[in-house]
Amino acid sequence: MANRIMLNETSYHGSGAINEIATEAKAHGFKKAFVCSDPDLIKFNVTSKVTDILDKNELAYEIYSDIKANPTIENVQHGVQSFKDSGADYIIAIGGGSSMDTSKAIGIIIANPEFEDVRSLEGVAPTKKPCVPIIAVPTTAGTAAEVTINYVITDIERKRKFVCVDPHDMPIIAIVDPDMMSSMPKGLTASTGMDALTHAIEGYTTKAAWEMTDMFHLKAIEIISKSLRGAVENTKEGREGMALGQYIAGMGFSNVGLGIAHSMAHTLGAVYDTPHGVACAMMLPIVMEYNQECTGEKYREIARAMGVKGVDEMSVDEYRKAAIDAVKQLSTDVGIPSKLDAIKEDDLPFLAESAAADACAPGNPKDASVDDFIELFRKIM
Ligand SMILES: NC(=O)c1ccc[n+]([C@@H]2O[C@H](COP(=O)([O-])OP(=O)(O)OC[C@H]3O[C@@H](n4cnc5c(N)ncnc54)[C@H](O)[C@@H]3O)[C@@H](O)[C@H]2O)c1
Ligand SMILES: [Fe+2]
Repeated sequence: MANRIMLNETSYHGSGAINEIATEAKAHGFKKAFVCSDPDLIKFNVTSKVTDILDKNELAYEIYSDIKANPTIENVQHGVQSFKDSGADYIIAIGGGSSMDTSKAIGIIIANPEFEDVRSLEGVAPTKKPCVPIIAVPTTAGTAAEVTINYVITDIERKRKFVCVDPHDMPIIAIVDPDMMSSMPKGLTASTGMDALTHAIEGYTTKAAWEMTDMFHLKAIEIISKSLRGAVENTKEGREGMALGQYIAGMGFSNVGLGIAHSMAHTLGAVYDTPHGVACAMMLPIVMEYNQECTGEKYREIARAMGVKGVDEMSVDEYRKAAIDAVKQLSTDVGIPSKLDAIKEDDLPFLAESAAADACAPGNPKDASVDDFIELFRKIM
């Protein structure tokens, strides 16, 4: 089967990239923007960095901010109605994965109203039309939702987060400006950065990985490992590196999928509202240990990309351990916890069933049973 690569039509990278929004909006002849951003970003004047540019260029817009972290079906449905009422013809998504994913779901339903229940979009949805044009402006350096064909929505009633995979949701333009990320506090920088590392490592080891996506993932692992500690200290180099590294990871994993660290993170997000990056970071080294015998020489390259010296002289066991240790060390250095107190023994069967049914599970290099998931969740209790 042929391999497919989908990316943005255009992306801008580097400090000051947000100024290109005005140029692009004018070049596309857009009339009015539906600016999708979450309440905290509005409060902390992150959204206004972009709306100031719209104001200066006399570009019309309306702000929509009924978005919570781990966005829900209700957030999306309310957003669809607000978009219809706004008279907008494009979306500017400003925020982390939550704002960008909500924007994608709104844009998809506006163009494909037969999916207005939202739940029917789970998995590979057979939508017919591209979503409303989206200009995506990430403010976290983690999800890479600005360059992925995925979005993740929470079904509160069923206590599930579900992944939607749909090439029709790809933002036409990504604006990856590290200055939009510099206001992130330490903990958020660390957790979203570990999400990006999880994308790169799971994308590199997933069943569908191939040469081109390996190239993206290895480069992303290298840049993220070099940059995350600095980003947490808010250095310019660290922020720039993370903005780029997370995007490159997205160029890869969006096209080949992920693995069970994400299946388990989605479950933890749905049941305990655990921030996505924290959940990924806790699961990543545990899943790497579980997967190791199904990864050939790949952990040698992960260890090398993470800066481990002497990997060519190491035995298989040594380089696999070195890769896992390097991930654990980075996670510890940036202050990520390794245990989640909220999990109770009685929760395990539901958690395991839910993770096993997640869209990312089939891509994992090693097939995991429900019993395996129980044991893996137990390791963070
Ligand atoms: N679409 C994809 O491919 C994809 C990939 C991975 C994760 N996700 C999803 O993305 C969501 C997580 O997104 P996220 O980790 O980017 O966080 P988020 O969007 O949920 O934001 C978390 C919090 O950080 C705040 N924040 C964001 N940027 C900030 C900044 N610059 N300064 C200060 N505060 C800021 C927000 O206001 C919010 O309160 C989850 O729902 C996850 O499942 C999607
Ligand atoms: Fe993720």
